[in-house]
Amino acid sequence: MSTSDKTKREGFSSTLGVLAATLGSAVGLGNIWKFPSMTGQNGGAAFVLVYLVCVALIALPVMISEFVIGRRAQANNVGAFKKLAPKTPWYLTGVSGVAAAFLIMFFYTDVAGWVYAYAFKALTGQLAGADATKTADIFGGYVGSVAGPVAWQWIVLVTISVIIIAGVTKGIERMTKTLLPILFVLLIVCDIRALSLPGAMDGVKYLFQPDLAKITPAVILAALGLAFFKLSVGMGTMTTYGSYIGKGENMPANAIKVALSDTLVSLLAGLAIFPAVFAFGFKPDAGPSLLFITIPAVFQTMPFGQVFLTMFFVLAAIAATGAMISLLEVPVAYLTEEHGWSRVVATVSSAALMGSVGLLATLSTSTLAEKLVMGKTFFDLFDFVSSNILLPVGGILICVFVGWKLGPAVLADEASNGGTLGNQLVLRVLSVLIRYVAPIAILLVLLNGLGVIKL
Ligand code: PHE
Repeated sequence: MSTSDKTKREGFSSTLGVLAATLGSAVGLGNIWKFPSMTGQNGGAAFVLVYLVCVALIALPVMISEFVIGRRAQANNVGAFKKLAPKTPWYLTGVSGVAAAFLIMFFYTDVAGWVYAYAFKALTGQLAGADATKTADIFGGYVGSVAGPVAWQWIVLVTISVIIIAGVTKGIERMTKTLLPILFVLLIVCDIRALSLPGAMDGVKYLFQPDLAKITPAVILAALGLAFFKLSVGMGTMTTYGSYIGKGENMPANAIKVALSDTLVSLLAGLAIFPAVFAFGFKPDAGPSLLFITIPAVFQTMPFGQVFLTMFFVLAAIAATGAMISLLEVPVAYLTEEHGWSRVVATVSSAALMGSVGLLATLSTSTLAEKLVMGKTFFDLFDFVSSNILLPVGGILICVFVGWKLGPAVLADEASNGGTLGNQLVLRVLSVLIRYVAPIAILLVLLNGLGVIKL
C-alpha cells in the first residue's frame, strides 16, 4: 500500500486545535497584504462586495468539500482521490493542487521575505522617524535590490523547513492559538490610530461605499481568485488538513468560523491601511507596496510606535509562516505517502525547488523587472496562474467530485458525522451550493474573466 501504514497519521488534538490549524492556514499575507492591495487595484468597495459573495457562496462550500474528501480518505491530496475513486483520472485534481502549491510558494516566500526583513528593520530601528515619503523610498530601495530579498527568501524557506521537518503539529497549534489573538488586537490598535488621522473617512468610504460600475468580468475573476487564495482552497491544503480532523468534529461549523474570522482580519487590515493611504495622500492602487509604506508611517505617528511596528511585522511574519507551512505540507504529505520519501528529503527538495524557481519572482522587482511573459512579470504570472486559474479549476473539480462522484449521501454523512449533528438545513443548503451553485458560478466567472465567453 502506498499510503502511510508505517507512520501513524498525526491528527489535530481538539476542536480548538482544528480551528487554530485551519485558521492558521487561512490567515496570512492574503489578509494584510493581498486583500488591501487588490482592493486598491480593483476599485475599492465594489471589489470587496464581490469578494464577500465569492467567499460565502463558493470558497466556503469548497472548503467543506475538501474537508469531506480529506477526512473520508485519511490521505494526502493525491492519495485521497486514488482511495475514493480508484483507477480513475480524478487523482490529477490532486496533482494539479500540488503544482499550485509550488506556484504560490514561488512568490509567497518572496513577500514573506519582505515581511521578515521589515520585522528586522523595525526591531533595529531602521524605520524610526520615517514619514510616508521616506517609507516609500525605503521600500523601493529594498525590493529594487538583489542580495537582501534573495537572502530573506531563503531564510524564510529554511525556517518553514525546520518546522515541517520537526512535524510539530502541536507546536503550530499552540502557536496559532496564542498568536492569532494578539495579531487581532494589534490590528485593532492600528485601526484606531489610522481612523483618527485627519481625512481618514475617505479611506473608510473607499472600503465600504461600492461603486457598482467598477464591477467588470476581470474584477469578478480577481475577487474569486482572492477568495480561493484567502481560504486556502482549490488546491488541497484543506484536504490535507481535513485528513487530520477527528471523526467527531463538526466540519461545516469549523469552516464557517474560519471564513468569518478570516474575513474579519482582512477587513481590519483594510481599515488600518486605507484611511492612512488617503490621509497621507497616497494612491490606493499602489499595489503590493501599500502595506510596507503605510503601516510603518502610521506607527511613526503614535507613542511607542517602534515597539508596535516591530510587533506588527513579527506577527505578520508568524501569520505568513503558518500559511506557508500548510502550503509546504501539501507536497511533503504527497511525496512521503505516495512515493515513500522521507520527511526530510521531501521537505528539503520541495523547499529547494521553491527557492530556486522562486528567484524569478524575487528578481521581478529588480533585475528581471522588464522581463515579461504574457505581459506579466514572473511574480505576477505565478500569482495570476495559481489564483485565477489553477485554484478555480481545482474548485470546480472538487465540487463535482464531492457533489456528484461521491454524491449527496456521502456528503451528508461526512458533513453531519453520520447524522449525529442534526444540521439538516445546513446540509440542504450545502448540497445545492456544492452540486450546482459553486461549480457553475466558478466556470462562468472563469470563462468570462479570461474573455472566452461574454456575459
Ligand atoms: N490563505 C493564505 C493567505 O491568505 C495563503 C494560502 C493559499 C495558504 C493557499 C494555503 C493555500 O495568506
